[in-house]
Amino acid sequence: MKSSDHKRVLAIMGSPRRSGNTDILVDEILKGAEEAGAQTEKVVLGDLDVGPCRACYACRPGGVCVLSDDMQGLLEKMKASDVWVFGTPVYWWGPSAQLKAFVDRWFSQAGDEEHMQLFRNRRVILAVPMGDADPKTGRHVIGMFKDSLDYVGAELFASVLAPGAYDKGDVRSNGDAMKQAREAGAEAVA
Ligand SMILES: Cc1cc2nc3c(=O)[nH]c(=O)nc-3n(C[C@H](O)[C@H](O)[C@H](O)COP(=O)(O)O)c2cc1C
Repeated sequence: MKSSDHKRVLAIMGSPRRSGNTDILVDEILKGAEEAGAQTEKVVLGDLDVGPCRACYACRPGGVCVLSDDMQGLLEKMKASDVWVFGTPVYWWGPSAQLKAFVDRWFSQAGDEEHMQLFRNRRVILAVPMGDADPKTGRHVIGMFKDSLDYVGAELFASVLAPGAYDKGDVRSNGDAMKQAREAGAEAVA
């Protein structure tokens, strides 16, 4: 990509709570990216039909999933963007079911080198609020993404953790997390 081109950022918002802490953090990351000149798009997973992987392995080889739902469109959007922002609240020390179902569906693209190209040279920013005041509560979410992204060859560029965010909107009073989110968005598209 020429440095004069606008980078494209795709955000996948994986909390079922609209205008909640994940949504706010994701928006802040996108704001930072837009201020740095990027084009952004946010997809709310809860608006889409992305079913869980059936483990039929019909996608191996060939990369085509037997499920016909909104995942195909999401893969197209992923292909067309340089930076991916994934947002999820911590649910029972893990990601939301919605975001996990989406990640499981990457399986169709992870079977051979041709389809693995989807993940190459992508930067990922994670946005992870949690009720607990201890950010270590987010470690399994970060660890899952770190290992999964290493496996497919994408880069975990930044993780924005927001502890102590329980009620809708709490994250706004976490100045550090909001600042980190804005900066991560800008830096990822630099
Ligand atoms: C099903 C469920 C499970 C949760 N599990 C945890 C947890 O394990 N640790 C934690 O710190 N917070 C937990 N929380 C609190 C959420 O992480 C917190 O409210 C977060 O800010 C929600 O983000 P949202 O506003 O984007 O929905 C849980 C909330 C729900 C609804």
